[in-house]
Amino acid sequence: MIEITFQNDEVKLINTQNNVSETVLHFGGIHNNHTTISSPKLLQEYIHMLENYSTIQKYTYGETTMIDIVALTSLIYNELMAGKHTEIRALEVGSWFGCSSYFFANSLKTFSDSNILFCMDTWQGSPDTASHNIANFENAFEHFKSVMRYAGVYENIKPIVCDSTVGMDILQDDYFDIIFVDANHTYDYVYQDIIKGIRKIKVGGLLMGHDCECYADELPPHLLHGDNKHLDGIEGYHTGVIKALDDIFGRSYSRFNYSLVWYKRITQEDKDMLLEMDLAYNYDQEDILQLVDTMKEAIQFIYQNITEGKSDMLQILTLDTVQAANQLEKEMVPLCERLYNKDLKIKTNELKSALLDFQITYNNDFPRALFVLESRVIESFNIWLECFLESEKK
Ligand SMILES: C[S@@+](CC[C@H](N)C(=O)[O-])C[C@H]1O[C@@H](n2cnc3c(N)ncnc32)[C@H](O)[C@@H]1O
Repeated sequence: MIEITFQNDEVKLINTQNNVSETVLHFGGIHNNHTTISSPKLLQEYIHMLENYSTIQKYTYGETTMIDIVALTSLIYNELMAGKHTEIRALEVGSWFGCSSYFFANSLKTFSDSNILFCMDTWQGSPDTASHNIANFENAFEHFKSVMRYAGVYENIKPIVCDSTVGMDILQDDYFDIIFVDANHTYDYVYQDIIKGIRKIKVGGLLMGHDCECYADELPPHLLHGDNKHLDGIEGYHTGVIKALDDIFGRSYSRFNYSLVWYKRITQEDKDMLLEMDLAYNYDQEDILQLVDTMKEAIQFIYQNITEGKSDMLQILTLDTVQAANQLEKEMVPLCERLYNKDLKIKTNELKSALLDFQITYNNDFPRALFVLESRVIESFNIWLECFLESEKK
């Protein structure tokens, strides 16, 4: 059992089983020529904020524990007490109903009303979120806004309704002082959110995230193999988060002993590492060309069979389209991300949705399938191919 204690001007997490404690926050207060916020006042505000935990948790269906909220807010308080504490631009990737958003925004607001928290989310939930189904019967975004208004932090929040795979690209580089990553927890998403976070944060900024139980070398070894690294919540570990952090930072990021929050101060070396990764990135052209051929063949095969009225090929046709769509997304989206080719990524997504649309039509409205194939699949494949060949020339 972990307890939170306030002793003198420190916040500690104590493991009651072995009495080992960890100081997470030390109230030094801030002083500069214009402002003085004293330690007792900050401590008072901090305790007052934490007293809201059970109410906020109730209204946000919050899964983020009190310990993790203490870890997150301690990092923010420490950060703002140690340096700049006005006109802070912070970003949360993954806000859901706003449990962490409230504590994040409130901590920033304690120091200055000029501090802003941008909250990026699709508000569609994640497959890995236990309360995901709530999004089916409630407008999660409206709920988020109501809670933020009710809790008095709405003025300090700017929501960005967007998928992070696209949304992070449109933000300005080197813009944020603090970023907290807590969206989709599977490997590919976390990897991209962190890489993009490094790009979007200023040198010296604080990058943080949720759901890291341990370092990769402390994981049961079998969890790092094969598909396990992509999974979320397997045997109590968020392997996607842990593996992505390991691949990007090795062990050079920090954690609290008793919390799932991880953090890393971003240095110029971290930014240079991205540049090196871009330069070193040498994708396997053979693989991609092979994929183009496979897709071309699949589409031609489907077209031929439909026009010849061979409905007994249904199984093979359906499988071919689904396989092509899945393979396309798997191979192309990370490639486009790395090459910063937004146009090709959009065209890839359009082609994938055309293929899936075809599959659905084929199963439910066969007479329309030929029309979808001709008007959507073949057309988007040709547009995609042109865009792909164009990118090859560069
Ligand atoms: C674990 S919840 C966030 C919890 C929140 N930080 C808290 O403490 O209450 C994950 C959120 O990420 C969002 N999400 C999942 N995938 C996303 C993506 N690709 N882009 C943006 N948001 C995403 C989901 O809609 C969900 O709201």
